[in-house]
Amino acid sequence: MTSKIMSSIKNRATPNDKIYTPLKVVDIMLDFCEYKEGQLVLEPARGLGAIYDKLKTPKEYCEIEEDKDYFDYHNKVDIVITNPPYSILDKFLKHTYTLCDKFCFLIGSYSLTPKRIEVMNSNGFYITKMLLTQIPSWFQRSYIIVCEKLDEEPNNIIFKSLNLGNKCLYCALPCGGMRGKNIKHCKRKSNENECHY
Ligand SMILES: C[S@@+](CC[C@H](N)C(=O)[O-])C[C@H]1O[C@@H](n2cnc3c(N)ncnc32)[C@H](O)[C@@H]1O
Repeated sequence: MTSKIMSSIKNRATPNDKIYTPLKVVDIMLDFCEYKEGQLVLEPARGLGAIYDKLKTPKEYCEIEEDKDYFDYHNKVDIVITNPPYSILDKFLKHTYTLCDKFCFLIGSYSLTPKRIEVMNSNGFYITKMLLTQIPSWFQRSYIIVCEKLDEEPNNIIFKSLNLGNKCLYCALPCGGMRGKNIKHCKRKSNENECHY
């Protein structure tokens, strides 16, 4: 069942890559990856700027809709932080391996496959920290993964999980699950940064 849903999402005529990270989750990502001011940081898929706007200079970004294609970007940076476009995740990961020694991605739990981890390791990168969460209204659970280029596989990985509940992270109305005639639900779509109530 799950693989059917995943396949239908992946094979849409127009992939739904415009899923913007809620600002509260951006704070969690930046804290979790131990991003430090002064590092040259790249947001390779800026979208509406949820992550980029919270980064300190020096910072750079790419965004295909502004004709700044990530695959044309070749500068070395200290860290890459993003919620990448799902439909080209492998290509995004592969390019990221060439630009930095550390990156932090927000990715769907179904996307963190053994094959992808194997390819990551063969490129010298290992997951050093991961945080499991469920972003309210998103289809699947998500991982924030921090990956670093290391000489060998680390003995330990820091693993955390964070329950964000099922209320909208912007307006605090229920995003689903709760039933009752007096319960109003948030109508925000995942490509919006505000709610309509
Ligand atoms: C899942 S959204 C995330 C946006 C933003 N990172 C965030 O966290 O809110 C992915 C973004 O990647 C952009 N994108 C897709 N392909 C790209 C490419 N080749 N280079 C740069 N950006 C790309 C899409 O236009 C979209 O805005």
